Amino acid sequence: MTGLSDSFQRPINYLRISVTDRCNLRCIYCMPPEGIALMSHDDILSYEEIVTLVKAAVELGITRIRLTGGEPLVRAGLPGLVRMIAGIDGVTDLSLTTNGIFLAKYAKDLKDAGLMRVNVSLDTLKPERFRQITRCGDLENTLKGIEAAKEADLTPVKINMVLMAGMNDDEIIDFARKTIDDGWHVRFIEYMPVNGEDINVTRLFSVSEVRKRLESLGPLEPYKMDKGNGPAKYYRLPDAKGTVGFITPVTEHFCYRCNRLRLTADGKLRLCLLREDEIDLREPLRNGASIQELKDIITKATAAKPRGHLLAERNSHKGRPFSQVGG
Ligand code: 5AD
Ligand code: SF4
Repeated sequence: MTGLSDSFQRPINYLRISVTDRCNLRCIYCMPPEGIALMSHDDILSYEEIVTLVKAAVELGITRIRLTGGEPLVRAGLPGLVRMIAGIDGVTDLSLTTNGIFLAKYAKDLKDAGLMRVNVSLDTLKPERFRQITRCGDLENTLKGIEAAKEADLTPVKINMVLMAGMNDDEIIDFARKTIDDGWHVRFIEYMPVNGEDINVTRLFSVSEVRKRLESLGPLEPYKMDKGNGPAKYYRLPDAKGTVGFITPVTEHFCYRCNRLRLTADGKLRLCLLREDEIDLREPLRNGASIQELKDIITKATAAKPRGHLLAERNSHKGRPFSQVGG
């Protein structure tokens, strides 16, 4: 294995693949209220094209793959893609990020196809508020999806909760209790300002505040999560089977240990979630580039991965909404 790295000597072994820009929800922090212009069918990579790119990436040293969206489960036949990727030698971790709405329906098929685990986005345990945050969703479906994923052994099931001041910070203790009562693995994620929002007036609720709130439940014991690729720091509360994780994109940058690349649904290699730098892989792919040529393009692009995001300097993220970049 050669091993892929960027010009800052960061080892790159993790690829997030957005399989569609469509979603069955419209979360307030992810999509603008008017929705987004959707990609056309021809713009979007076929599963075969995705698999070719994954093969090239894996030959370069990518070992961990996550499928995202939009909402990946709205794309027809996703278990088929999972099966093809799971069959590629060198893929050691294959996971999915979903809003859970369709998870009850697909959990078993996904497991049978070779998916290893799922992360479920869930920001509230209150049905009314769920509808408000997602602009349309039914909480019950996501909760059923989480249960189905556990039953299908797509574990550890991690719950991603985006903290929004004044919106759901009153539920921090309820989510933390779930790690004790139901063995959930809950990750508290700081809200990243989008679409030019001013970081000072956004819904930022810092992880350090979360830690303070959790003190009433007892001390946090550091925990080593064996299946994880990312920036989260994990802890365990007294008597908890599950864990709490903290992700601090705003108050404590983790760009210096970033290990990831993203592939957008329309075949652009995206070097950073919060920067617009992208390299087109679709055109060379459709023009018949060989695996070696694709590898060369990916290697060169990766070398130009930016040092990090500019939330601090520029106060916001602009450009494509997260629904197109895979969160
Ligand atoms: N800030 C923080 N997290 C976000 N996500 C989407 N938009 C934002 C944002 N503005 C996260 C969602 C989901 C993942 C795909 O991306 O919680 O879990
Ligand atoms: Fe859909 Fe996820 Fe964006 Fe919500 S955050 S609108 S579930 S892609």
